[in-house]
Amino acid sequence: MALKVGVVGMGGIGHTHCRCYKNDSLAELIAVCDIIKEKADKAAEEFGVEAFYSLKEMLKAHPELDIVDVTTSGYENGSWHYEPAMEALAAGKNVLVEKPISNDIREAREMVKFAADQNVYLGCNLNHYFTEPANQALQLIADKKIGEPVYLMQKMGFNGSEMGYGGASTGRWQRPYSHLKAFLAHPFSVMRRFGGDITHIQAFMNKPGVRKSADDLMLSIASIHMRFENGSAGYIISQRGDASFGLGGWWCFEMAGTRGTFCIENCVEKLTYWTAGQEPVVTNTGITDFGSTFPNRIHAFLEDITNKVPRELIRASGRDALATLEYTFAVIDSYENGGALVRVNPLPNLHAHGIVL
Ligand SMILES: NC(=O)c1ccc[n+]([C@@H]2O[C@H](COP(=O)([O-])OP(=O)(O)OC[C@H]3O[C@@H](n4cnc5c(N)ncnc54)[C@H](O)[C@@H]3O)[C@@H](O)[C@H]2O)c1
Repeated sequence: MALKVGVVGMGGIGHTHCRCYKNDSLAELIAVCDIIKEKADKAAEEFGVEAFYSLKEMLKAHPELDIVDVTTSGYENGSWHYEPAMEALAAGKNVLVEKPISNDIREAREMVKFAADQNVYLGCNLNHYFTEPANQALQLIADKKIGEPVYLMQKMGFNGSEMGYGGASTGRWQRPYSHLKAFLAHPFSVMRRFGGDITHIQAFMNKPGVRKSADDLMLSIASIHMRFENGSAGYIISQRGDASFGLGGWWCFEMAGTRGTFCIENCVEKLTYWTAGQEPVVTNTGITDFGSTFPNRIHAFLEDITNKVPRELIRASGRDALATLEYTFAVIDSYENGGALVRVNPLPNLHAHGIVL
């Protein structure tokens, strides 16, 4: 039977999620909610469902909801996630939350712990590895064609230049760490999907002169060096609209191992595999729309719940999202200490209940 879904936060991304549920046979979209009445009403009309102006009203009117999907935003694109997510978890609902799980590490830890205590599913929209190239790369690893990991590298950013700079933004972006908190969940989630847990982080950050002279608070260039638990090394360079894309486009990831290396370009578009003594094997997926990651990821969440997958084994879980935020806070810690080496805060045990954080 289709899972009944209510979506909270009807901005652009809330609409994207609603379209995914409408087109997925595992889901039935029941209601939408926004504290801004016009937004809720407009979305309700578009999707042919009921509108609510508070989550409390939505939960009261629809106790049968299986999933509450939180697509709010806030400062650093995450400060409005905690309250509705906790309210839905308290009502015993499974929750899918947009990334970052929160902009506050203590809130994120609490959300993961509370979901475990409530014994419900908490997932996060870490959508960047729900792609054809990532699936093929995971198959290469499973087939032992990569071998022991040596290094992982990712370059990710927004297209731009000083000529295209639009001035210091306001609201959610007018904070020093807004780019990091809003965005690093993606490259870190990809790094961890392929390389496993990260134990050590060092970071340098900056912003170009055009931002400095505009009094733009946002640190928009992040250079992050890391060590994985398995001993391999990793590197992320992330920038927000300060440079034009180079090789590999806006999203380029390479993993090298003792038996082979692969590179994914433009997230959804292309996979290349190299192994010693052979011609590289190139797969162009024919997919160019990054938007395809949303239905893929949302379908995986619906599948995991439908199949009653053990809570700790769901794909892109709240705990996985917490890992990315722990790394982001380690990045900030390193930056604030002049690029010092930082040991990442450990994650809660997979089967934890009532743990002390
Ligand atoms: N995974 C991805 O690829 C991806 C891409 C872009 C954005 N995002 C994430 O999606 C989220 C939403 O982004 P957006 O640009 O659509 O945001 P937005 O600000 O346009 O929309 C958020 C909406 O939530 C509403 N809202 C806030 N608090 C609420 C509450 N307690 N109850 C009900 N409604 C509430 C606001 O009124 C607003 O309409 C962000 O967290 C962002 O980081 C993810």
